[in-house]
Amino acid sequence: MSAVGADEPLLVAESVVAGYLPEVNILNGCDLQLADGEIVGVIGPNGAGKSTLLKAVFGLLPVRSGSIRLRGTEISGRRPHELVSLGIGYVPQSRNVFSSLTVEENLQMGIYQRPKLFAARMRAVAELFPLLADRRRQQAGSLSGGERQVVAMGRALMMEPSVLLLDEPSAGLSPMAQDDAFERIRTINEAGVSMVMVEQNARRCLELAHRGYVLDQGRNAHTGTGRALLHDEAVVESYLGTLAKAR
Ligand SMILES: Nc1ncnc2c1ncn2[C@@H]1O[C@H](COP(=O)(O)OP(=O)(O)OP(=O)(O)O)[C@@H](O)[C@H]1O
Ligand SMILES: [Mg+2]
Repeated sequence: MSAVGADEPLLVAESVVAGYLPEVNILNGCDLQLADGEIVGVIGPNGAGKSTLLKAVFGLLPVRSGSIRLRGTEISGRRPHELVSLGIGYVPQSRNVFSSLTVEENLQMGIYQRPKLFAARMRAVAELFPLLADRRRQQAGSLSGGERQVVAMGRALMMEPSVLLLDEPSAGLSPMAQDDAFERIRTINEAGVSMVMVEQNARRCLELAHRGYVLDQGRNAHTGTGRALLHDEAVVESYLGTLAKAR
């Protein structure tokens, strides 16, 4: 459908309209771009459509109009397993591990399409996060929230994605575990993975992200570098809150 744009950023979402119920659009023309090597943060109020945007990119709900391209190739309409094999990883907002399976089995699920690569990828992912090797026989359901998040990220990294979509990686974690979660995101990015991170913790998100998007009611409200958004009066006033201002 679209011409292959060699100069186009790694991932481009353009004027995306999507929703769950017939005739009810949740995304009303969203744009997002992710360049190679970037961490892009997406913030905005509850119900703004942040998770919906990630789901639309990952093929979990149909795109009604607009375009989503990976390296210039249209990917809207592709199923999640196809997107995984094209190099997109996704860690959902909640229930992101198989609780009754061990850590190792969870990681196997992440690479079921290429089982022969399991051992090599397990080594690579455990090098980033040693906990995955140390706890490989432990049931994922018996891990702490922070440890489960490591398993969820590890699983998404098994297929060596070029793009990782993270929905609220710090949600429900203690302050110390949140610090670890943000540190992990930096580690993954430094290993060469570009990321779109949706976060409730808007200030921390923008501090880490190279660029950010503020979504409101399914539309882009503000866009800029993380630093510019952190200092944008309108963003601070409406989206970063008084608590964040005091920090
Ligand atoms: N499965 C679904 N069926 C119908 N409506 C849904 C479904 N999932 C989400 N919605 C609606 O879509 C809108 C956007 O939800 P979404 O989960 O994308 O928001 P969000 O920005 O991620 O919010 P939060 O910060 O609370 O996670 C909400 O009004 C929500 O009720
Ligand atoms: Mg959400």
